Amino acid sequence: MIILGIETSCDETSAALVHDGKIVLSNVVATSLQEHQKFGGVIPEIASRRQLEYINIVTAQALKTAGMTFKDIDAVAVTREPGLMGSLLVGISFANSLSYALQKPFIKVNHIQAHIYANYLLDVKDASRIDTLWEDLQLPAIGLVVSGGHSSLFYIKDFLNYRLIGQTRDDAPGEAYDKVARILGLGYPGGPVIDRLARGVSDNKIVFPSAAMSGTHDFSFSGLKTAVLYYIQKYQRTPDFSVDHVAAAFQDSVVRVLVEKSIKACHARKVKTLLIGGGVAANSALRDTLKARGAEEGIRVNFPAMPLCMDNAAMIAGLGYHLVSKPALARV
Ligand code: KG4
Ligand code: ZN
Repeated sequence: MIILGIETSCDETSAALVHDGKIVLSNVVATSLQEHQKFGGVIPEIASRRQLEYINIVTAQALKTAGMTFKDIDAVAVTREPGLMGSLLVGISFANSLSYALQKPFIKVNHIQAHIYANYLLDVKDASRIDTLWEDLQLPAIGLVVSGGHSSLFYIKDFLNYRLIGQTRDDAPGEAYDKVARILGLGYPGGPVIDRLARGVSDNKIVFPSAAMSGTHDFSFSGLKTAVLYYIQKYQRTPDFSVDHVAAAFQDSVVRVLVEKSIKACHARKVKTLLIGGGVAANSALRDTLKARGAEEGIRVNFPAMPLCMDNAAMIAGLGYHLVSKPALARV
């Protein structure tokens, strides 16, 4: 089955073709990110206008890359929620009209759940590894989604059963990255630049606390953000002040809590598979630390390929495959 996926939840416009919920035949992403940079965050009105301009182009390109036409599509899957209202509306209206015109099923997919599903996808050039990947990533699993808008822990029994067991009480980790980068004058988005600066730091004397939220699987990052702000206000005019060291200490605090809480959730639920997703899953310290801790604890930790960590339509088409015959379950 070939599914066309459409993703327009924020500032990326993406279309993808995925075979049987496993192999990515094409995954085209356009972004209005650069236009938002001067504002230090996404401006919803600009994002939705660009969605309208890009949606036809990325869809045509996704078909061309896969060597297919609209006739080859068996179903159309789209991001239903969560996201910016104006941006979501463009994708949903486009996908709904297309499915009507083609007389093919219309599937609505939850964006956060799809971020986790990205772990089960491989690009067509890596198709020979797909059976091994699926054998490795046994369910049930714990899924950790860390992005600009979300920090969520799921217990996943099967692809139609995602149970939310923990989430952020305030900021998402990507949001904290973006806000701390802004305070440090590092621009937007903050994640990639803080990740890069932190890699060059060793022997860091700064330590920021991590919020334990004991007895729950929940997270909190707003206290950390405030601790960073107070530290900067106090020390920024002192000779030893180093942006790189502050960035690295902030990142250590985020990574420490994400790693410990997700490993703890695996033990609590007696689960041996830990799946990560979302933009912050691109973070090199999170990837290295979680893989090392997973190996120590006998837990199989997996991250999607880098392009599939970011917002993309392949993950929507992938999870959409499992919802084709059960459209009601696509609602959360
Ligand atoms: O999943 P995503 O593309 O969009 C949302 O649904 O939010 O995530 C974007 C977020 C941004 O906050 C960005 O700063 C963060 O992911 N990010 C990173 C890295 N790359 C992107 N955070 C930490 N380290 C990275 N390497
Ligand atoms: Zn996302």
